Amino acid sequence: MSIERDNRPKRTATLTTNDQTHALPVMSGSVGPSVIDISNLYGETHQFTYDPGFTSTASCESKITYIDGEAGILLYRGYPIDELAEHSNFIETAYLLITGELPTQTEYDEFNHAIMDHSMMHEQLLEFFSGFRRDAHPMAIMCGVVGALSAFYHDSTDINDAHQRFVASRRLIAKMPTIAAMAYKYSVGQPFVYPRNDLDYSTDFLHMCFAVPTQEYKVDPIIARAMDRIFILHADHEQNASTSTVRLAGSSGANPFACVAAGIACLWGPAHGGANEAALNMLREIGSIERIPEFIARAKDHDDPFRLMGFGHRVYKNYDPRARVMQQTCHEVLNELGIEDDPMLDVAMELERIALSDDYFIEKKLYPNIDFYSGITLKAIGFPTTMFTALFALARTVGWVAQWNEMIEDPSQRIGRPRQLYSGYTERDYVSLKSR
Ligand code: SDX
Repeated sequence: MSIERDNRPKRTATLTTNDQTHALPVMSGSVGPSVIDISNLYGETHQFTYDPGFTSTASCESKITYIDGEAGILLYRGYPIDELAEHSNFIETAYLLITGELPTQTEYDEFNHAIMDHSMMHEQLLEFFSGFRRDAHPMAIMCGVVGALSAFYHDSTDINDAHQRFVASRRLIAKMPTIAAMAYKYSVGQPFVYPRNDLDYSTDFLHMCFAVPTQEYKVDPIIARAMDRIFILHADHEQNASTSTVRLAGSSGANPFACVAAGIACLWGPAHGGANEAALNMLREIGSIERIPEFIARAKDHDDPFRLMGFGHRVYKNYDPRARVMQQTCHEVLNELGIEDDPMLDVAMELERIALSDDYFIEKKLYPNIDFYSGITLKAIGFPTTMFTALFALARTVGWVAQWNEMIEDPSQRIGRPRQLYSGYTERDYVSLKSR
């Protein structure tokens, strides 16, 4: 396919196939790669494009998050992630991702109030937890309970009603911390702690996780700030696998709670949001700096399915800008908690140093991603590894909700229905059992 840029205002790409030449419209965004519109390709050529894993496919037009993987740039509605991590907070970032603009003080107060005032769950939803085994993975609980929200909040499932979409979005952002904290409390056999409106979002979440009825629990403000920054870093990330899942589920008209439950299920995978749990388990398995070469060799061995968890990224072929902020936050938390010689951090730092100087990783552009340092930080704060992805889901709910709303409001959106390259049997006649 040769891409010819003609000088007329409307750019096209020329495709020649089966001795036919087709002019395909080229669309440009505000920044980043332009796209070749192939929506009429099948109608014109009776051929599909083929792109398993969607490495070269734009599934939608969006104004929410921009990533430049080569330059290591991540913008939320145009604002660099490191500036938001430094100067903003998670509730303000949620407002920005959903509305497109930073709030005034009045707008911020109203939004924060709306979120904090809806952090409690319907009391009957608490019954769902007792149906799980105590050792159920928190992500299994999150999938189940979030999906169940659609059975309790019928007044916010009509996706064609903008007000109901706002109410459902607010409920999801408000209740995710409560559900995640309850999943943690259930796993450790402690009583649930109810949300408190006098605490900010991240402080309230940590209070729900670590307070016990027997004594006053004061959340360390340094740790609360670190938690809030971790939520900001995980809030959205363009059309990643779980966000694409939420969009695809939403394109059928499914209600927002069911769509977010689908996103949670997708995020759980170790190649995606489950990588923070997998990265910590890998560091634990490596155990010492001396064993790092053995694991680096395994990561290079194509016959060995082992991969360095927390390294590599579909889009970032440069350092993940979130990993840099995550590394700094990791050191802040360890210093605040007086954890100087965490052997796992020593292994992580040495693994990063070796990997960044190794030709294999340099050639394949495998840099540490956000999951590499988040696990060490969350473990230091006191979370078990099984809670790591639940925390990722808590934060990513803001991105899922923002992207879901954008899709519903997009006049060009239709039900997502990819096609295939079929390589199975052509038509053949049924053979009766006695003739087989
Ligand atoms: C997240 O999409 C997002 O935005 C996701 C995310 C978000 O915020 O939503 O950023 C969150 O999911 C971060 C990624 C977390 N996953 C991990 O850390 C798991 C380990 N990483 C790999 O599984 C892998 O790097 C992926 C899944 C992240 C990316 O896979 P790709 O883009 O499909 O790349 P690939 O598997 O084709 O790898 C390219 C090459 C391969 O070698 P070749 O076959 O070309 O010889 O690099 C190798 C791979 O074998 N490779 C690795 C590796 N990752 C890729 N080799 C060793 N260790 C690794 N981690």
